[in-house]
Amino acid sequence: MIKVGLIGLGKTGKYIAESILQQDNMTLVAAVCSPNSQKKGMDLSEFLGNKKAEIKITTSDELEATIFKTKPDIMLDFSSSKAAIKNAVTLSNMKVNIVIGTTGFTDKDIEKLKNISREFKNGIVYAPNITLGVNVIMMLSNIAASILNNYDFEIIEMHHKTKKDSPSGTALKLSSEIELGLNSSGIQDKVIPISSIRAGDIVGKHEVLIVGEHDKIEISHESFSRKAFTVGAISAVNFIYKKSGYYEMRDVLNLKELILKYIDSLEDESPESSQA
Ligand SMILES: NC(=O)c1ccc[n+]([C@@H]2O[C@H](COP(=O)([O-])OP(=O)(O)OC[C@H]3O[C@@H](n4cnc5c(N)ncnc54)[C@H](OP(=O)(O)O)[C@@H]3O)[C@@H](O)[C@H]2O)c1
Repeated sequence: MIKVGLIGLGKTGKYIAESILQQDNMTLVAAVCSPNSQKKGMDLSEFLGNKKAEIKITTSDELEATIFKTKPDIMLDFSSSKAAIKNAVTLSNMKVNIVIGTTGFTDKDIEKLKNISREFKNGIVYAPNITLGVNVIMMLSNIAASILNNYDFEIIEMHHKTKKDSPSGTALKLSSEIELGLNSSGIQDKVIPISSIRAGDIVGKHEVLIVGEHDKIEISHESFSRKAFTVGAISAVNFIYKKSGYYEMRDVLNLKELILKYIDSLEDESPESSQA
């Protein structure tokens, strides 16, 4: 059994907790809220309305003590960017592996995550874009940019009105994937504008507009429910169990290998190979 803990019991954290409780190979050993949260000391079972969750909710102020007591293999973090960096240092120091779903990190923060995973030799998955669908549109946008390098690229992202970071971590990552695609075909320093909409309870939508002189392509991804995040989070936990090093969701989802297999299949189907 993989012993898993969760930091951040907000809109997404609740779904993640429920999902861990449903896994046959995982046990939920810790649930951590913010220092002044009303959830402090509550039974998680009461909070979730799920009898299987027989643990007391502790705060991130007592993270070290919680780790000593519950000895998780992996902690998932869906809290705030400021808290998540602090938690990552504490957890790495204690040799606990981490899946970070929290967004809003700067490039400096990401560099810090890479450095601490090297220093403490624990495993970190940094996953600001945890769904398979979002990772696929990143890959498609990168490929499109490398082919359509004279087109204009724009990103539109929409989220619920309580989302703190803007633009979303996923939109920033999409723009860097587009830049990588453009760079690979010799285009440097092209600005990719991002428009952000914060309204109602939109779970998460990302659109990439690719606009040329005579035609337009749109690639779009929308999560209908926060349950979409749980599938990726569970895959990331299984992936990082007993591993060390810094990883992102593309490593968890093995996308490079899938693309290489696809390219191989094209070669198998080419007229030359069928004549041979
Ligand atoms: N990777 C992805 O694909 C993905 C998907 C969805 C969301 N996210 C990200 O996950 C994070 C949470 O999203 P959400 O929608 O669940 O937001 P939310 O409803 O605002 O929940 C955030 C939770 O974090 C807790 N928190 C804040 N500071 C904390 C600390 N120091 N220690 C422990 N917990 C702390 C808050 O706890 P209290 O209530 O106890 O104060 C709150 O419940 C955001 O960064 C969001 O962008 C990422």
